[in-house]
Amino acid sequence: MTPDTDPQDLNLALFERARRVIPGGVNSPVRAFRAVGGTPRFITRAQGAYIWDANGQRYIDYIGSWGPMILGHGHAAVLEAVQKAARDGFSFGAPTEREIELAEEILRHVPSMDMVRLVSSGTEAAMSAIRLARGATGRNKLVKFEGCYHGHADALLVKAGSGLATFGHPTSAGVPAVVAQDTLVLEYNNLAQLEEAFALHGADIACLMIEPIAGNMNFVRASVPFMQRCRELCSQHGALLVFDEVMTGFRVALGGAQSLYARAIPGFAPDLTVLGKVIGGGMPLAAFGGRRAVMEQLAPLGPVYQAGTLSGNPVATACGLATLREIARPGFYEALAARTRALVQGLQARAAAAGVAFSADSEGGMFGFFLLPELPQNYTAVMKSDGARFNQLFHGLLARGVYVAPALYEAGFVSAAHTDADLAQTLDAAEAVFQALQ
Ligand SMILES: Cc1ncc(COP(=O)(O)O)c(C=O)c1O
Repeated sequence: MTPDTDPQDLNLALFERARRVIPGGVNSPVRAFRAVGGTPRFITRAQGAYIWDANGQRYIDYIGSWGPMILGHGHAAVLEAVQKAARDGFSFGAPTEREIELAEEILRHVPSMDMVRLVSSGTEAAMSAIRLARGATGRNKLVKFEGCYHGHADALLVKAGSGLATFGHPTSAGVPAVVAQDTLVLEYNNLAQLEEAFALHGADIACLMIEPIAGNMNFVRASVPFMQRCRELCSQHGALLVFDEVMTGFRVALGGAQSLYARAIPGFAPDLTVLGKVIGGGMPLAAFGGRRAVMEQLAPLGPVYQAGTLSGNPVATACGLATLREIARPGFYEALAARTRALVQGLQARAAAAGVAFSADSEGGMFGFFLLPELPQNYTAVMKSDGARFNQLFHGLLARGVYVAPALYEAGFVSAAHTDADLAQTLDAAEAVFQALQ
């Protein structure tokens, strides 16, 4: 009997019950295991680097709520801050000092931002940043890249048109073609396309939005020359460069991915930055910010409207603030990066020993791996991965108590709570799966 047909499987029972009342049984599609098949694990609790499912099975968690749980689950200082905040009140719909503290903490680490606005999800932050860019420039067009995800606002659910002279087509039903027509979708790391797009449309482009390390096509870095050219072309044509650091912000480094590019490109800074995930520590919290002159275009100061009943929620800000204070401690990222690198190098060694074509990369506490001989540079190359073999790898690891993302185009995350013993168990599991991989 496989776990997916076992009548004693409480995950399966919950999934069947969920499917009756929630579309697909989940509240966000990737949780449904559609890409890999099988039954999603319904999680009952989490602690440190571990999550437990409804059957009581423990997993080493390399998803970390898709990025936020950088300290691991149930960190004592964060838990205490959240409990205290909850006792003081869940939500006031009025300003609080903690919102200022969190804003100050974010700005302290991300010098490209003079001001920040707190919201509740990455989708909301990215959508608002685009509206702000359009309002500030008086232009409508936006450039994005295939394989980057910036949340599910209409203008972002778009695939490339037939050429650079034409704009995008919706990738979701319900998105009006007219909305997609203002979005130009380019290939990631393709300098020639970037040049051509700005040559053709530069005067109409409000912003270029990019994941600097694209975690929504597993793990693909924008090359330094590509990023430098993005910056130059935006400046030259009066468009805003918007860094979507919802995933990379406070995850790959304390100053986000932009701090890495600033090290390689003198004076480098994006105009706007979108944050989420880690800044909420697992609570619904996200943000967007940037230069003062741009941010002052927002209501109530300026003409660009943006608002939210639960924005800057006191419990969420307590969680985010406690998280940021912990990760700002000296040596935090060095230790996290070393641990993540050890995982990735261990996986590479085990794959090589088993004769499995494999490539992997990491930065800070974020990593990606591919069943490909070389790291891909764009979405088309990522999707050359063999889905069936990835699924075998995924289920092999899951069966051995190691929980990685249930789709080959998602990044992985290591937390400060992952121990050497967790890594060793993970690598033993990987070794066994690699050896069995057909
Ligand atoms: C880079 C990036 N931007 C935006 C989003 C959307 O954030 P949320 O899921 O909080 O709406 C995500 C979510 O995974 C993301 O990875």
